[in-house]
Amino acid sequence: MSKSASCKNNIDVSNKEMKAIGVLGSPREDGNTAYLLEEILSVLRKELKTEMIFLKNYEIRPCEGCCFCEESHKCIIEDDMQKLYPKIMEASVIILASPSYMGGVTSRMRAFMERTWCLRKGQLENKIGTWIVVGRRRIGGAINEMNEYLDRLRVIKVPGCSGYAFRKGDILKDKEALKEARMLGERILKIVKKVHSS
Ligand SMILES: Cc1cc2nc3c(=O)[nH]c(=O)nc-3n(C[C@H](O)[C@H](O)[C@H](O)COP(=O)(O)O)c2cc1C
Repeated sequence: MSKSASCKNNIDVSNKEMKAIGVLGSPREDGNTAYLLEEILSVLRKELKTEMIFLKNYEIRPCEGCCFCEESHKCIIEDDMQKLYPKIMEASVIILASPSYMGGVTSRMRAFMERTWCLRKGQLENKIGTWIVVGRRRIGGAINEMNEYLDRLRVIKVPGCSGYAFRKGDILKDKEALKEARMLGERILKIVKKVHSS
């Protein structure tokens, strides 16, 4: 698992203009989901700046349902999510990556998703969004959660990639998932070019 470990919170500081962010909801920075995410980011890095956002490094409270954002389009909660809003806004590609926990995304990913409710009114239109889900056996509703989320944010949604793995490193045995992740990276690059040349 050295590949993902060497890319911890990787920020590529080259001169490329557009950026892809990978949002990692696993508590394991060098786990299976991180590995699959890094497979995609390594392809995207050919033409885009990339950054992996490890949610465990951020204190993110759940949405309080105050609806302050209804008019202001801003979230009133003062926590580390305020550091992430600018990163989301500047990204052209957003990849959500979570293991399946009890048949859904992790609570860290759920909190992140809830807290982007303030961006639901088209602020993310024309960005490309996709997902990665890794589970041991029964992924359950995690993929559906990601799909529903991306619909609400009105991004250009690209079908994501799932992998089957349990212990750290098991994802290396899921060759199909690794291949799919790289293909997804190539597909995103093609779409980025089309969207931004039109
Ligand atoms: C609390 C917890 C709940 C889990 N629930 C599920 C589940 O519902 N379905 C499943 O297929 N795997 C489940 N798993 C297994 C993880 O999805 C699997 O180990 C995954 O590879 C972890 O990804 P990571 O290495 O990126 O952290 C669960 C693991 C934990 C720790």
